[in-house]
Amino acid sequence: MKIPSSIWTLLIGIGLTLASLWYGQNHGLLPTAASDEAILIDGLFNSMMTVSVGIFLIVEGVLIYSVFKYRRRAGDQEDGPPVEGNVPLEILWTAIPAIIVIGISVYSFEVYNDIGGFDPHAVHEAPMNQSSMNMPGAAIAATLTETPANRNQEKSDEAMQDPATAAVRNADQIPQKVDAPGVGSVAPTLGASPDKAGQPASLIVNVTGMQYAWIFTYPETGVTTGELHVPIGREVQINMTANDVIHAFWVPEFRVKQDAIPGRQSEIRFTPKTVGDYALICAELCGPYHGAMRTQVVVESQENFDKWMQEQLVASHETLNQAIAVNPANMTPDEFLAPHTKEMGIKPEILHQIHH
Ligand code: CUA
Repeated sequence: MKIPSSIWTLLIGIGLTLASLWYGQNHGLLPTAASDEAILIDGLFNSMMTVSVGIFLIVEGVLIYSVFKYRRRAGDQEDGPPVEGNVPLEILWTAIPAIIVIGISVYSFEVYNDIGGFDPHAVHEAPMNQSSMNMPGAAIAATLTETPANRNQEKSDEAMQDPATAAVRNADQIPQKVDAPGVGSVAPTLGASPDKAGQPASLIVNVTGMQYAWIFTYPETGVTTGELHVPIGREVQINMTANDVIHAFWVPEFRVKQDAIPGRQSEIRFTPKTVGDYALICAELCGPYHGAMRTQVVVESQENFDKWMQEQLVASHETLNQAIAVNPANMTPDEFLAPHTKEMGIKPEILHQIHH
């Protein structure tokens, strides 16, 4: 009995779909998903993987099939048949990828929105007064001459109110960018689902990137460390900047990444959900020791986090008091931090590179 080609096509189609769906969920390419945001990113990645596997199998399958089926047989000296093109086929293979690309872009934007990437409230609102509303010409003039509030400077000032952060950041040496569309405004906040209302307020951690270390300060307690500890289930808001060149805060297990830029404040938010030790990796080529600019992120229970914070407080109070008593205020960051490298979990050599 000869099986009709339409049945073959149907069977192959079902097989390809099942194989793509299975591989899209079982590719094993991503590390542990350790934050709430990671689930959304993985959903998008897995969907794209499913579509890609399907297309790969179709294209390679047809290619390999044709290589065998239409190979030149012994003694065959004929030309191939003249093929003039096929309009319905061309329409089909233009329309299908277009639909796929539009679908992925809509889905991506949804995910970007869900993790708080597009927050219309974060867009700077230019001050507008009654007189400028009445005269269109004056409105333009007002926009050109009025200096809008510098949100970047505000964020910087806010962070510098924490003495521990101020000691680490040399903000007075790097002028803050003024607010302007795309330049100097606070970088779009990544992370954070809007439905976090009613839950405990975010844990704020100020992060400073410098060649070649990450320094973390906790404004709630004034603790300074070289390792990021965060409790599970509570949203973490990272306020970051850099002291010298551009660095990037990247924890693959959280699936979020943000640049730390000198003179500019950027934010990233995530909610850790899986206990474990992960690597925080600098993801921006920042100098010869860029590859060594990594540290640990410890996600732990609230209880262990509180215990760790308590230990840091005891340790820092003992050594910080000594350091402050002995040294005048005009210390360089490495001088200031040198006595604390041990509890910060970084090597003293790294500090010596701060101002080179
Ligand atoms: Cu800092 Cu690469």
